[in-house]
Amino acid sequence: MTQLAGIQLRSPVLLAPMAGFTDGPYRRLAAEFGAGMVCTELVSSEGIIRRNKKTIDLLRFSDRERPIGIQVFGSDPVVVAEAAAFVETLKPDCIDINMGCCAPKVCYNGKGAALLKKPEMVHRIAATVGQAVSLPVSAKIRLGWDSDSINYNEVVQALVEGNVSFISVHGRTRAQLYRGEADWESITEIARSCPVPVVGNGDILSWEDAMEKLNTTGCTAVMVGRGAQGNPWIFSSREPTLHERLDVIRRHYHLMIEEYGEYGMVLMRKHVVKYIHGIRNATKIRSKLVVADTMEEIESLLQQVIQ
Ligand SMILES: Cc1cc2nc3c(=O)[nH]c(=O)nc-3n(C[C@H](O)[C@H](O)[C@H](O)COP(=O)(O)O)c2cc1C
Repeated sequence: MTQLAGIQLRSPVLLAPMAGFTDGPYRRLAAEFGAGMVCTELVSSEGIIRRNKKTIDLLRFSDRERPIGIQVFGSDPVVVAEAAAFVETLKPDCIDINMGCCAPKVCYNGKGAALLKKPEMVHRIAATVGQAVSLPVSAKIRLGWDSDSINYNEVVQALVEGNVSFISVHGRTRAQLYRGEADWESITEIARSCPVPVVGNGDILSWEDAMEKLNTTGCTAVMVGRGAQGNPWIFSSREPTLHERLDVIRRHYHLMIEEYGEYGMVLMRKHVVKYIHGIRNATKIRSKLVVADTMEEIESLLQQVIQ
């Protein structure tokens, strides 16, 4: 069994944090399908220390999701460390610091990927958080801010000196957002030279992709983001039949209702649209799926394309 910083992983293929997608229901589903570890979406350190209710809600998880990381973001080392100390009381398996988010509202406040421009701040945040908690601390980075300022070696060194337990690397710059291809050569260079384990991330769309990256890059684990949307079976090596897919959608729906009550149906729509990706003729039911009000409606629409 793969170990990452002392954490026993179910497999070396992990679920990447995704705001709006990797909530409790989806994390549970991913864990059931074998995801090695799951992670919350990025959670504001300031919101945590103010005990903002919506922020604190994002930190909730169940033991069925373990092993789980909680990801925090912020730009002030003291605030991030105080938030991490609170997170530690919830007993996740690790605490991840977001240093790669590309969203303007995060970056323009000096948080997320904006930290990559200041390796000394990367170091201070990692070190201050590390001193505040005893759980493993990790960081998730990109390769740099833009193609003119690729500085992953410096950032990785700052993190290692800040005593992080492992580093997740999304093989793009902030300027690329999610465009272009992830640069696995740079991820490989980091994984082969970094003294702490590296989790590679970017463009993994199948179990085979994940195995290929694990076998060729020196990464201890890999992380799947968009490839896992509407596709939790990416964490197992078997593709489901169309009928099995429908069962998974039902299961996901029930988890959403359990978590959010009726509003779970509204939140479920974006997942259903992902689940039908790649199914022949599915585009013709898409516009109806995004406004479906009940699971019965979703089922009868799906029945039209899976006969
Ligand atoms: C909708 C969405 C939300 C995301 N939210 C987060 C987040 O909260 N924290 C984070 O570190 N990365 C976030 N990411 C980035 C992913 O974790 C991942 O690094 C990126 O999507 C590249 O991996 P992929 O090619 O497998 O999708 C998000 C990505 C997407 C598409």
